Amino acid sequence: MNCVSFVAAIDGPAGAGKSTLARKVANLLRMRYLDTGALYRALAFSLYSSQVSPEEGPGMEAAIAGISVEILENGLLLNGKEVGKEIRSPLVDSIVSSYAALPSVRKRLLSIQREQGKHGSLVADGRDMGTVVFPDADVKIFLTASDEVRAKRRLLELRERGEDVTYEEVLQTIRERDRVDSERSTAPLRKAEGAIEVNTDALSIEEAVAALASIISKRKGA
Ligand code: DC
Repeated sequence: MNCVSFVAAIDGPAGAGKSTLARKVANLLRMRYLDTGALYRALAFSLYSSQVSPEEGPGMEAAIAGISVEILENGLLLNGKEVGKEIRSPLVDSIVSSYAALPSVRKRLLSIQREQGKHGSLVADGRDMGTVVFPDADVKIFLTASDEVRAKRRLLELRERGEDVTYEEVLQTIRERDRVDSERSTAPLRKAEGAIEVNTDALSIEEAVAALASIISKRKGA
């Protein structure tokens, strides 16, 4: 199939629960799921590992051109190798936004993301799904939660993985990431026009999934 399909665009700040919720909703509604944060994480991880600093220039262009990123049904290939946990470390949390702010990085990932919207109904989550990547999305959702709730959730996730981090460190990284993601000039994080805002502070995962599924299925059935 190569026609434009039904797209649900979910945006919001770091730690609002986008990936967890979007994945579950996609499963529930039998839609495909696109985690665009993973694409930015993989590219940033690769550039950082090759000691390419986060600034535009011929070095950056050449480095980006030499990286291959491929989306699998349930994962991501970076230069032919599957990546997972290594792109979700506190180190990548702290460097990813400075690479994601670069127009050349965003340009590299734009067509890869749009291609995914052509092959059957899709739930895509990120920062610029409703504003830039899928401006004609059938439904747009802006997922939020307070800084403190987002930091607590991320702390639990990192501790479960055995990472040695404090609440203060996680809160600071989240706030800094929000600042860079919202203040960058290319595709900044903001609520798309017409997006429905859902705050997950007081919602359990099940309640949040139900809320999103209801918004998306209503629009799908419309
Ligand atoms: O959703 P996440 O935390 O995995 O995203 C990691 C970083 O990637 C985030 O700090 C900003 C960037 N990002 C972006 O700029 N645009 C997207 N569509 C997705 C992520």
